[in-house]
Amino acid sequence: MSGIYIHIPFCKKACHYCNFHFSTSSDYRERMVHAIAEELRLRKDEINEPIQTIYFGGGTPSIVEPSQIELLLDAIDKHYSIDTSPEITMEANPDDITKEYAADWKSMGINRFSIGVQSFSNIHLEWMNRAHNASQSLSCIDIIRSTGFENFSIDLIYGTPGQSTNDWKGDLEKAIALNIPHLSCYALTVEEQTPLFHLIEGGKKEKVNSDLQAEQFNLLVDITNAADYDHYEISNFALPGMKSKHNSAYWNGVPYLGVGPSAHSFQNNLRSWNISNNISYMQSIEKHARPFESEILSDIDQLNEYIMTKLRLEEGINSNIIMMKWGDDQLTRITKLMNRFIQEDKVEKIQEGWKLTKHGKFFADGIASALFQV
Ligand SMILES: C[S@@+](CC[C@H](N)C(=O)[O-])C[C@H]1O[C@@H](n2cnc3c(N)ncnc32)[C@H](O)[C@@H]1O
Repeated sequence: MSGIYIHIPFCKKACHYCNFHFSTSSDYRERMVHAIAEELRLRKDEINEPIQTIYFGGGTPSIVEPSQIELLLDAIDKHYSIDTSPEITMEANPDDITKEYAADWKSMGINRFSIGVQSFSNIHLEWMNRAHNASQSLSCIDIIRSTGFENFSIDLIYGTPGQSTNDWKGDLEKAIALNIPHLSCYALTVEEQTPLFHLIEGGKKEKVNSDLQAEQFNLLVDITNAADYDHYEISNFALPGMKSKHNSAYWNGVPYLGVGPSAHSFQNNLRSWNISNNISYMQSIEKHARPFESEILSDIDQLNEYIMTKLRLEEGINSNIIMMKWGDDQLTRITKLMNRFIQEDKVEKIQEGWKLTKHGKFFADGIASALFQV
């Protein structure tokens, strides 16, 4: 089993909070798509198993012409062995989704969408500097459904300054009333080098209130639970049968090939990442050389990776696996730390290990780093 991630590094507008790699230029999109197709060709022998999941992420993949997405799918088809019914996801923004595009995407085999809704309130969308408004979100969901797509997710962001817990409740109730099959809900994080960071530093925007974010996370867990969503990863909630196969594979250490500028790949404990510069990426690929850096995960890196990913998942950390792979000393060290988190009601003991409590889930990143072997 393996997957392919394709990074389309373009967006219409720069969202103030976003730290992903993208450009708002529209000058060389076609050239970039050809370069990514060439990278797929160059790396065709890196993965020998059938591809079960393909994921177009970004940036905003829906910004390029459907024919350019098709060109990339054709390159995958030509150079890789694909499973009989792969999951093929595309991140799409509400302002790009038209009936014509949706029909084209369907005919080329896209069968899942991750839609960048972020909020159902225009005030919060403007605060984020989004390119769409709330009514576009509603109409794009109609288009997706009427084109025959049943498997889709929406991204929502909570904990934005100015967003009350009641506003967030309204967003969640809207998503549930719309019977959205999968929700990815993220607490707003302020990343350095984003416009948001500078706006807050300069006193032009209010700071994030982490107590309010924790309150909103609790509400998220309660409301989705009451609506029968499976909270299968800290930020991800699925109605029955609607979990993301691509992301689940990634969290379970399945190998994947990432193409396009800034894309990461992982196979046999080798992690590699392409350079995050569009022009340099294209120039290098056009000379048939993939511009990347890599690292081999040490034994300790693998342990830390295991802790970080499994802690975010409902299944939690398995103490037998820790003992078998990393030995008694690590198990003793981790058990001691876990006992402290159990007292703080952040972790609970399960049959063969530990998982986060509802209270602990909001602190997942901090708990994981406290458990890391450094
Ligand atoms: C790769 S991004 C872009 C997806 C899509 N192009 C869009 O603009 O909505 C994937 C998701 O990460 C989330 N995200 C990105 N930066 C974030 C931040 N600083 N805080 C919280 N969520 C963030 C957003 O919900 C976003 O939809």
